[in-house]
Amino acid sequence: KKKMNIAIDGPAGAGKSTVAKLVAEQLSYLYIDTGAMYRALTLAALREGIDLQDGPALTEILSKTTIHLQHEQSGVRVLLNNEDVTEAIRMKDVTSNVSLVSSHEGVRLEMVERQRKLAEKGGAVLDGRDIGTYVLPDAKVKVFLTASVDERARRRYEEQRKKGIPADFDQLKEEIARRDQLDSTREFAPLKKADDAVEIDSTSLTIPEVAKSIIELAKERA
Ligand code: C5P
Repeated sequence: KKKMNIAIDGPAGAGKSTVAKLVAEQLSYLYIDTGAMYRALTLAALREGIDLQDGPALTEILSKTTIHLQHEQSGVRVLLNNEDVTEAIRMKDVTSNVSLVSSHEGVRLEMVERQRKLAEKGGAVLDGRDIGTYVLPDAKVKVFLTASVDERARRRYEEQRKKGIPADFDQLKEEIARRDQLDSTREFAPLKKADDAVEIDSTSLTIPEVAKSIIELAKERA
């Protein structure tokens, strides 16, 4: 029997990637971080000095760019034209520009095609903004994962602090709110809960608790 796909969407910093990784691990599914793909393109565009308002130029760059999510024991490595950019795509400059880059229809159409190909055999957990609404409208399990903006900023702050990166709470909170605003108001495939998605508010839940409820949903629908 064909394995299902699981879609996890939601605003920035809700814990999607951590949860998605855990769910994928426990079900022996493939984890596909679609945000990393948009981040990799953003990094490529910044390096080439492309005008980030220029959709056709970005689409052109993307057509000549390979992005691989390479699964290793240590985690997923992101390869941009075979260069390891796993850390580079988390830099501030990328984070603050990725919403603009991913707002262009041409960019999204190409990314969505790549994402559908990665998921075509089933057995994948995808996290992003438009997986349940646009990329995989037929996904068996759709989750819309949220948390209050304060809680999301607090988690980001802790994450940075642990990595030894200096961070400012208010600034992180502002950045998260700004990105949500851009992502949910763009014209093409905006961030939005799918009608048939299950909403999980993780504000007062732990990551393993969230993962557990998603795995239960998957088992019910298998
Ligand atoms: O998930 P992450 O925060 O790394 O995503 C970075 C950005 O990529 C989002 O803020 C959004 O602008 C874009 N994105 C998107 N569609 C997706 C995944 C990410 O537009 N499916």
